[in-house]
Amino acid sequence: MDKKQIIENISIYVKDKQSGEGSGHDWWHTKRVLDTAKYLAQEEGADLFIVKLAALLHDIADWKFAGGDDKASSKVATELLTKYGVDKESIDHVCHIVDNVSFKGEVQENKINTIEGKVVQDADRLDALGAVGIARTFAYGGSKGREIYNPEIKFQENMNFEKYKKNQGSSINHFYEKLLLLKELINTRSAKKIAEERHQFILIYLDEFYKEWDAKY
Ligand code: NI
Repeated sequence: MDKKQIIENISIYVKDKQSGEGSGHDWWHTKRVLDTAKYLAQEEGADLFIVKLAALLHDIADWKFAGGDDKASSKVATELLTKYGVDKESIDHVCHIVDNVSFKGEVQENKINTIEGKVVQDADRLDALGAVGIARTFAYGGSKGREIYNPEIKFQENMNFEKYKKNQGSSINHFYEKLLLLKELINTRSAKKIAEERHQFILIYLDEFYKEWDAKY
């Protein structure tokens, strides 16, 4: 099967699996990550086939929804890619990206070490920023029964993975616990530019949010 056909088949599979998901990890998230990753891959000279596969499969069994199994996505990825006759080296590369791309609540050592991985990780992080990132934060919070905002609950600093999983703070707290930290974690120059713009947009949004919350006229 040629590369184009493999990408097409995997797109159909992922779209079918992720459609109609309401917490912000739906097919449209994957599609945006794919599109952004393609742009970044061209800017950064990364291998497009690996980037497309990893972008498509990066959330196929997200650990937040896979009962805590943080290798769930790469298991699905290995099965699929083997079925389509992708070579072992490419499968291992894609799986390494898929296993390590996610933000897990701490500024930990980044295991992503290839330009293809960096591009996909950046694309995923960019989708957590800006107007779309804000929408996804509230969608995810809502799916977990979290409040939009609660001024009585302070946001947490330096969260580890355990704290991050159990965290019950408001969606606005999540801006400080995750979104506003992302800019510093971006790998590539082309993504940094975009991250900076989206970061500024979130700051403007928060300003407006507090003004309205406090009825300041
Ligand atoms: Ni993602």
